[in-house]
Amino acid sequence: MTTPAPAPAPAVMAFPAGFRWGTATAAYQIEGAADEDGRTPSIWDTFSRTPGKVRNGDTGDIAADHYHRMSEDIALLSSLGVTDYRFSVAWPRIQPTGRGPAVQKGLDFYRRLVDELRDAGIRPVATLYHWDLPQELETAGGWPRRETAERFAEFASLTAEALGDRVATWTTLNEPWCVAFLGYAAGVHAPGLTSPVAALRAAHHLNLAHGRAVQALRAALPAESEVSLTLNLHSLRLRTDSAADREAARRIDALGNRLFLDPVFHGRLPGDLVRDTASVTDWSFVEDGDLAVASTPVDSLGVNYYAPATVEAGRSEAPSPWPTTEPHVGFPRTPGPRTAMDWPVDAQGLYELLSRLRDELPGVPLLVTENGAAYEDYADPEGRVRDPERVAYLHGHLAAVHRAIADGADVRGYFLWSLLDNFEWAYGYSKRFGIVHVDFATQRRTPKDSARWYAAVIARGGLPG
Ligand code: FCB
Repeated sequence: MTTPAPAPAPAVMAFPAGFRWGTATAAYQIEGAADEDGRTPSIWDTFSRTPGKVRNGDTGDIAADHYHRMSEDIALLSSLGVTDYRFSVAWPRIQPTGRGPAVQKGLDFYRRLVDELRDAGIRPVATLYHWDLPQELETAGGWPRRETAERFAEFASLTAEALGDRVATWTTLNEPWCVAFLGYAAGVHAPGLTSPVAALRAAHHLNLAHGRAVQALRAALPAESEVSLTLNLHSLRLRTDSAADREAARRIDALGNRLFLDPVFHGRLPGDLVRDTASVTDWSFVEDGDLAVASTPVDSLGVNYYAPATVEAGRSEAPSPWPTTEPHVGFPRTPGPRTAMDWPVDAQGLYELLSRLRDELPGVPLLVTENGAAYEDYADPEGRVRDPERVAYLHGHLAAVHRAIADGADVRGYFLWSLLDNFEWAYGYSKRFGIVHVDFATQRRTPKDSARWYAAVIARGGLPG
């Protein structure tokens, strides 16, 4: 009698040993407890409480109540098997007025969080600024004001002194492009200004704040700590290969990508950008030595990616997040599948972005610090949340990361956005990005099918082939 041949082991698109598998969240989007333990309003409290700014008048007052459910959420992370967890520290919990000594209760919350993570064998990855500027600092001038960069370095220093023995990876800023251009030019994010010059000033002071914070972190942290920055770089497509469309893409690349990459990695401002924006500002707010500070070396670069942008010469929306002069730029709608955010599903854009960074920033390790998708999720009568579109999105994007690594990109980890459904900024609770469903009426958490899928990927160390 012949024994049947064993079933072949399932093929696996394996990631390198030591690859960091994580999920990401941000303080204002999940914590709630808006006025507890000394926390004061941030610009997002003010903005979300202003009628008409956030869909349905939603605010982060309660959010996913993570401030009170932190242990339950860490248990969810454990059940996923993640190696890392990216969270952000709420500045107004640590320094309610944006200056002065740290509030002990604020530090204690994050100390408990990182201790419980470490007990669960999960590496904490702390982001210092995920958009919740203390309101008092905005009232004093916000990011367009130089002083805010100094305040941020002080906050970085206080937080690193308190948590530096327990947190090995630190990110200064999350997506400074969104902070500057959605917040101060398009007005769709806090603080809701529509001033092109304020946005450009903000962008520069964010680069400066990043550099000052890197210096403050280096002074406070053990030598082996990892210091990083997360950018939402724009993966650009041209509508046609015409000279006009290429010129539009160059302008968007300057404002969306090189305005941050050049100061941080090369200590310079892009010359073409300075020319493009000459009618908006003469850039005299850039002082001697600022760009040297901005380019204080980092240990890795975080990349957030959701969708590419297709660009054409055309008509700008108004108010535009792109403070550039003629010719205007447009973003035509492209065919193909879209998420509930109406963002195109296009994993090739992530491959192209990682490959570009491989070529332009040799020697800089990369982390995908956010990637994920919103869909119209609901629990079925058995309480199960089936989200096959999210699984397909994640599969496609992880396959793109795998291919980028095979082609030489030094990608060290992937952080899925997001662990929980949460307050999606101007969309409030209407958009669900979590792999864990949150019923905001009861705060009940239900892992979606995608959570089980992600846990299996992590356990296997890769994708089903
Ligand atoms: C990014 C933000 C994050 C989340 C996702 C969907 O721009 O960093 O907080 O809202 O988009």
